[in-house]
Amino acid sequence: MGQLDGKIALVTGAARGIGKVIAEKLADEGADLAVCDLNMDWLAETEAAIRQKGRRVLRVAGDVSNGESVRQMTDAVLAEFGAIDILVNNAGITRDNLLVRMSEEDWDAVISVNLRGAFLFTKAVARPMMKARSGAIVNIASIIGLIGNVGQCNYAASKAGLIALTKSVAKELARRNVRVNAVAPGFIRTKMTDTLPGEVQKKMLEAIPLERFGQAEDVADAVVFLAGKSSAYITGQVLGVNGGMAM
Ligand SMILES: NC(=O)c1ccc[n+]([C@@H]2O[C@H](COP(=O)([O-])OP(=O)(O)OC[C@H]3O[C@@H](n4cnc5c(N)ncnc54)[C@H](O)[C@@H]3O)[C@@H](O)[C@H]2O)c1
Repeated sequence: MGQLDGKIALVTGAARGIGKVIAEKLADEGADLAVCDLNMDWLAETEAAIRQKGRRVLRVAGDVSNGESVRQMTDAVLAEFGAIDILVNNAGITRDNLLVRMSEEDWDAVISVNLRGAFLFTKAVARPMMKARSGAIVNIASIIGLIGNVGQCNYAASKAGLIALTKSVAKELARRNVRVNAVAPGFIRTKMTDTLPGEVQKKMLEAIPLERFGQAEDVADAVVFLAGKSSAYITGQVLGVNGGMAM
């Protein structure tokens, strides 16, 4: 018996990295999965992994920053499963540069995917969740949204915005028993972070009290907790998963 038996979960950006592991962990706990990413082919591996666990899975391809695309993906999931109990807004991008060199395009792209995308998907699932008087939304923010970072003003702003979105929507939906929380990962080993220069990685390691980088599994465990019954009295919170990097 898993703690999410009978639940339907939708994870955005689930083709690889943290999103793929989140989808797999939710399936391990008994949830059926809708997995979203930009491209149907990219999602094949995630689909296969979840199917192998004996869970139902639906692939939906689209762009989280596009309202029409989000509505189409949400409709497809509701048509297939009849409900969405858990939404994980995980899709995210970086376009790093120093403020003075940052183009308007790079600012807009990061805000569009990381913040507008979460707004659009949250809006799309809010009514069905409110009607069901039950639901859990988990937004994948970042430690950078709390403490800022050189070269990441667009990303930091998007993640700080996501935290504010989390708290505001948590207040709006609480009386319908829909909970909204955020996970703020620190330095997690994925393709996104592997591209950082070795010198930067070494510096970051020195700032982590637990003296190791996190794994996608560490983030996924926090998501499972915030999606399930064990966190029934928790809403509007930001759970840091960062090895003690920010306290
Ligand atoms: N890796 C880290 O150390 C770290 C730390 C803190 C927060 N995060 C956050 O965790 C989340 C996942 O990060 P990751 O490291 O796994 O990244 P990743 O690049 O490995 O995966 C992101 C996924 O999102 C998808 N995606 C991007 N734009 C999309 C769009 N417009 N519509 C639909 N899907 C889209 C990508 O195709 C990709 O599959 C992001 O929100 C990221 O900001 C990561």
